[in-house]
Amino acid sequence: MNESATEKTLTIETPEGTFTVRLILDDLGKIYPGMVRYTVEVLYGTEPVYTYAINSYEVPPGSLFETRKVAEIVFARLAHDVVSRPKTYTRPRVFTRPLPGRGTYDVVILQGSPRRFGNSARAASWCDDEADRAGLSSRVFFLQEMDIRPCIGCYTCYNYGYCPIEDDMPWIIRALESASIIVVCTPVYTSTVPAGLKTVMDRCQWLHAREKILGSEVRARGLLIAVAGRRGREPFACVTPVVNAFMENLGIRPTGSVLVGDLDRARDIRTIEGVEDEIRSALRVLLGPGAEG
Ligand SMILES: Cc1cc2nc3c(=O)[nH]c(=O)nc-3n(C[C@H](O)[C@H](O)[C@H](O)COP(=O)(O)O)c2cc1C
Repeated sequence: MNESATEKTLTIETPEGTFTVRLILDDLGKIYPGMVRYTVEVLYGTEPVYTYAINSYEVPPGSLFETRKVAEIVFARLAHDVVSRPKTYTRPRVFTRPLPGRGTYDVVILQGSPRRFGNSARAASWCDDEADRAGLSSRVFFLQEMDIRPCIGCYTCYNYGYCPIEDDMPWIIRALESASIIVVCTPVYTSTVPAGLKTVMDRCQWLHAREKILGSEVRARGLLIAVAGRRGREPFACVTPVVNAFMENLGIRPTGSVLVGDLDRARDIRTIEGVEDEIRSALRVLLGPGAEG
């Protein structure tokens, strides 16, 4: 997955036993151009008890910090700390945030409209219903009702495989990781997706990092259902590439879309003839036998 090299090793004998401090360089250039990560690890005997990591993308341009320098400073400080208070390092202190143990579904539907009873929500309910009829577990996430904050670009997910922001996002990551079908139901807002859905898409960088760093894999197929006020294809010109980029970044294979315009005039998606059938059959095609591959 990536090139890893131990750059420095220091063995420290203490009254508590033997510790090793290691500086490891990972070339993550296969994930992003020029990306490298330094990991400083303290081992008690052979057991890792403390890990610090920093990558070159989390340091903004113009920063006073230089990635390698920071890693060297942490290495020196940790070595000093192990000598002065070895007892602290005899028990592992692992910083991670495990995903919820429950909350897996065959079909995951991300409903991006803030309107609980709007057109996207209606489309989502048809998809949910089709999954149910096929005997599959499914879940509609009403993103507007969840506590999800924007990505802060800290790139911590590429260090440890988890996101430090404490909110509801782990539920979505867990669900997306387990699903075989992912449906995005969204209105067009200012030619793209609403901010709440975009926030979730950005935060899924965490899932991208999990795939690249931890080797977890999303093998789902994706469907886009978008609704817009204006007529024709033009309102969807940005939405489609944005949602496709989101899916492709995560290894979700986009399999098509249902685009429903003219809702400023029609108001209610249920009044547009044939749309419910079109959405339900798009789902059935995905759920049906032979849809795999
Ligand atoms: C803030 C906002 C921005 C919108 N921007 C567009 C747009 O750029 N193009 C368009 O065709 N419709 C636009 N619409 C109309 C919605 O796409 C349309 O009303 C849709 O049916 C709403 O879906 P919902 O019922 O699922 O919330 C916008 C609506 C809102 C509230």
